Amino acid sequence: MIHPSEIAKMFEQEPLACWNGERLPLSEVRVSVLDRGFLFGDAIYEVIRVYSGKPFLFQDHLNRIQRNLEKMSLPADLGSIQRWIEETISASGFVEASVYIHVTRGVAPRTHRFPDPPPTPNVLIYVAAFHDSYSQFRHSGASVVVVPDQRWKRCDIKSVNLLANCFASEMAHQQGCAEALLSDDSGKLSEGSRSSLFGVKDSVVLTAPLGENILPGITRRLIQQLCEECQLEMREETIHQSQLDEIDELFLTATTMEILPVTRVDDQPIGDGQIGPVSRQLVDAYQKHIERFRNET
Ligand SMILES: Cc1ncc(COP(=O)(O)O)c(C=O)c1O
Repeated sequence: MIHPSEIAKMFEQEPLACWNGERLPLSEVRVSVLDRGFLFGDAIYEVIRVYSGKPFLFQDHLNRIQRNLEKMSLPADLGSIQRWIEETISASGFVEASVYIHVTRGVAPRTHRFPDPPPTPNVLIYVAAFHDSYSQFRHSGASVVVVPDQRWKRCDIKSVNLLANCFASEMAHQQGCAEALLSDDSGKLSEGSRSSLFGVKDSVVLTAPLGENILPGITRRLIQQLCEECQLEMREETIHQSQLDEIDELFLTATTMEILPVTRVDDQPIGDGQIGPVSRQLVDAYQKHIERFRNET
């Protein structure tokens, strides 16, 4: 067994956890092997970015947690989750951080159907110091690969069943790429393994419409708002793999990734292979939006 001190050493600074309301170092959290999250992946999760000690787009993330709890018939109390997130951020002392939230159906004898009566959900929250692993790509533009989308048919639920996403991400890593774009059987590119996908064609920003095949990204919503502020037209239209040689720009978005311009797909350049003007404009607008948020009281 890995000793708790070894777990603590995996982080530069050990994250602070909150396990069902009790605060403790992450390495000291103990979970039953009968937890349905462990046995079946019967759990949802959420990731929130903290800038200057404040959770960014907090209400949007809380709304998505609530929608996921409802879609999974998970009887967890959102009010307690909100309070525990706020308290853990403030007790952690981390100013630039990310918050991971994980809600499982709880502990019950192993059986596929939902236990009756329902067990008490287990709620894990932890706050970790943030290290930006994308900064090198943000300036140069990222290379990505296209891989088949092998996920289940309810990708709108932010469930912890991420094996197909992990496979895709590992394939990208093995080819020296920052992310994998997921393609359905007909060649439509839905999103990344852990990000939303956007294209730019003739100055119009394109992204796949919401449906059960993609996660409704919180950052995706912010991009829609920033497009309005920048007077950029945005259209919900899925990009097909065969259109990539006509696309001018591509970029990915996610909570900790922010905006990541993509300059190569499967080793082929997008547009002229440089970060394009619309991507630059949106990266700039995103940074200004965060600065305003940092300075809000
Ligand atoms: C599959 C997938 N799509 C999109 C996103 C982006 O979502 P958000 O902007 O809410 O972080 C993520 C983030 O984890 C993801 O895993």
